[in-house]
Amino acid sequence: MKIFNPLIISAAFLLLGSNYSCAQNSLPHKDSLDRKWWKEAVVYQLYPRSFNDVDGDGIGDLKGIIAKLDYIKSLGVDAVWLNPIYGSPNDDNGYDVSDYRDIMKDFGTMADFDAMLKGMHARGIKLVMDLVVNHSSDEHEWFKKSRSSRNSPYREYYHWWNAEKGKPPYRYSLFDVNHDAWRYDSLTNAYYLHYFSRKQPDLNWENPKLRQEVYDIMKFWGDKGIDGFRLDAFQFAAKDTTFPAFPNGFEKNFTQYYGMQGNLHGYLQEMNQQVLSKYNVMSVAEGAGNTFEDAHNLVDADRNELNMAYAFEAVDIAKPDGYSVLHLKQIFTKWDSAFAAKGWLSIFLANHDQARLVTRFGNDSPEFRAVSSKMLTTFLMTMRGTPYYYNGDELGMTNAGFSKAEDYRDVQTLNEYQRQKNLGTDMQKYLQRMSFESRDNSRTPFQWNNSKNAGFSTGKPWIAVNPNYTTINVAAQEKDGNSTLNYFRKVVKLRKDNLALVYGKYTLLDGQNADTYSYTRELDGKKLLVLLNFTSNVATTNTGVDFSKANVLLGNYPQSSKNGTLKPYEAVVYELK
Ligand code: GLC
Repeated sequence: MKIFNPLIISAAFLLLGSNYSCAQNSLPHKDSLDRKWWKEAVVYQLYPRSFNDVDGDGIGDLKGIIAKLDYIKSLGVDAVWLNPIYGSPNDDNGYDVSDYRDIMKDFGTMADFDAMLKGMHARGIKLVMDLVVNHSSDEHEWFKKSRSSRNSPYREYYHWWNAEKGKPPYRYSLFDVNHDAWRYDSLTNAYYLHYFSRKQPDLNWENPKLRQEVYDIMKFWGDKGIDGFRLDAFQFAAKDTTFPAFPNGFEKNFTQYYGMQGNLHGYLQEMNQQVLSKYNVMSVAEGAGNTFEDAHNLVDADRNELNMAYAFEAVDIAKPDGYSVLHLKQIFTKWDSAFAAKGWLSIFLANHDQARLVTRFGNDSPEFRAVSSKMLTTFLMTMRGTPYYYNGDELGMTNAGFSKAEDYRDVQTLNEYQRQKNLGTDMQKYLQRMSFESRDNSRTPFQWNNSKNAGFSTGKPWIAVNPNYTTINVAAQEKDGNSTLNYFRKVVKLRKDNLALVYGKYTLLDGQNADTYSYTRELDGKKLLVLLNFTSNVATTNTGVDFSKANVLLGNYPQSSKNGTLKPYEAVVYELK
């Protein structure tokens, strides 16, 4: 029996191997830097459904975001990546778009959007929109027309397989209750393809008309003045439409078969030429292919495709029984090395498809939650690459702690629950696993204060609030100079004040230490040292550094280590003289 892996959504984007020769990690010089705003930005990912609800329907909305723009500004972040807010029947919380030029009713109106964007820009905050064009909703007009007749002019907007040919070769669906990505539609006696849920039919990128539609949509938002696009699941957009049979068990490594196929790079170059190059926007793809070469081919500036891609190799290592710090270091170091001379990385360990940062990578017990959150934040803000930081992690929000199937809302979790039930799985065990891994863990309402529903909504929230909101919330943390929230602000400021943390050379120290992560960042004679203890024990890192010449810039304890012996989850950033 195949064991369900809820992290498959991220495994789907796993970088499987490396055939890109690592570049020389030479010391960059300030004058030779190819400086870009998106390289220097800290991106704050905002999940609109759970951020702030102003109209009391239990669902976050754009007016709610507007009401909190000063909070976002106070964080010191430069850009917001907003999960999809387009017209959608919400099978997958907006990742099933039925109208790309409209705002989801639950979230408000286009006037609200315009006001939100204006409010962001007035505060110097840029807006990156999610662009979901590997698939649309089955309720999109294109799909309705496409399925209406085999002769519809929209037929070729999607992938159809006529049933007279027999069953199409098996394709794996990440979200379907049967994992079968072909769905039979009796109306025209044909199957359509959906890599995600059956309400998310895949668009046919081979069709130039479809591509033009997408570019027009991008221009619509570009003309509104947005500052970037995050291309959802885009590495899957191009397919081999001869649909060859794949070997048995291919779904275990399906990114290899689904990722970077066909003329994907051609489409990206076309998109760049028609849209991206015409606006002052950044672009980032979800997924980076199968090799470093794939990743470079997406982002190297001279190829004129995208600015960044994010790979899931590191995010995927956290399992219920923990992860290896050595492995984490090895992955980040390997990626840094491969991108040291060319291209640009995205740095992240959490998002709306992952469980909470502190629960997976830190320690969410009352004793260590705050300190380990701060340590992880220090890590994310001191690596080379653009940090993407998920909302609520600045408070050290934890996993939801749901114990019943009824608590979950996520289409992937619920369909897999049903599937496992059909297979006769021990559902108690499955639920336990979900409480660690389900995507809903990071989607509970943002915790603003200790009033009803954490101050998120006066109505019944669409998903339950984490009961720990009474202690973990913005209001409480604003009052405490040492809170995780205030620490986040400090570490973001540290990054903004030190170009070395953005562009500086990264050098791993004490690489074989299984408990600590130590490295330097260097630029133009400035050398910063970062020491991180990833464990709940005291740990010593032997970096060979002369601490008498080390000046502490920031630490997550009142007294920072001055000798490499670190308290549990201690993080320190020094300037070396
Ligand atoms: C991406 C999104 C995820 C969504 C899926 C299908 O992985 O991040 O939330 O479910 O694509 O659009």
